[in-house]
Amino acid sequence: MSARSGVLITLEGCDGCGKSTQAALLCARLAAGGLPVGPSSAPGTVIREPGGTAAGEAIRDVLLHGLQAPAPWTEALLYAAARAELVERVLLPGLGAGRVLVLDRFIDSSLAYQGFARGLGIDAVLGVNEPGLRGLLPDLTIVLDVDPLVGLGRAGGTPDRIEAEGLDLQQRVAAGFAVLARRFPERVRLIDGFRDIDLVAASVEAAALQAVADAGARPGG
Ligand code: TYD
Repeated sequence: MSARSGVLITLEGCDGCGKSTQAALLCARLAAGGLPVGPSSAPGTVIREPGGTAAGEAIRDVLLHGLQAPAPWTEALLYAAARAELVERVLLPGLGAGRVLVLDRFIDSSLAYQGFARGLGIDAVLGVNEPGLRGLLPDLTIVLDVDPLVGLGRAGGTPDRIEAEGLDLQQRVAAGFAVLARRFPERVRLIDGFRDIDLVAASVEAAALQAVADAGARPGG
């Protein structure tokens, strides 16, 4: 970890919580403030999970739009594989170059969806992710807290496989994120996502700027 001088900020929450919108707004605001946001190959952009690499996008298709639903552990391992590729090819180089990387989902989605909501176990899912994470955890994880019912109503378009599973799963996911906020209080922050978009964006930006300042103060930062 000492090899990194950048900052890793992840946005999380149940489906339809508004994190993709907020991740894009955050990138724009941080870039406007002069920070080196996003990977050097695509400055100013959000990185999305699963995805962000060629293998990751192919895995995303299998997971969310393939013909047959993967078994729970297959699902967990495929997300972990997409993540390992992203860590190696995008995150470690970007952080090593001192960039501020904003991710739309990361490890905590696997812990909440596969670990908690699917019942595989938070520790078990963390365990299979660890080799691919290479010691990397976010400096700050913002969980946008919204009522899952509101979230499902917001997620427009054709639902992907996980959205199509409905409210029960989303309620367990929201409970999973609450567990993670208690378990990792040093990096996970719940922010009320059921407010005016600009108010949410201001809270997200304030938390992110604090994380950037804290990272600047860490040894070697
Ligand atoms: P998301 O990017 O929110 O979908 P969209 O771009 O369609 O809004 O995430 C895709 C789905 O994958 C979402 O339902 C959450 C799920 N997911 C997991 O179950 N585990 C994971 O580790 C990740 C990264 C996502």
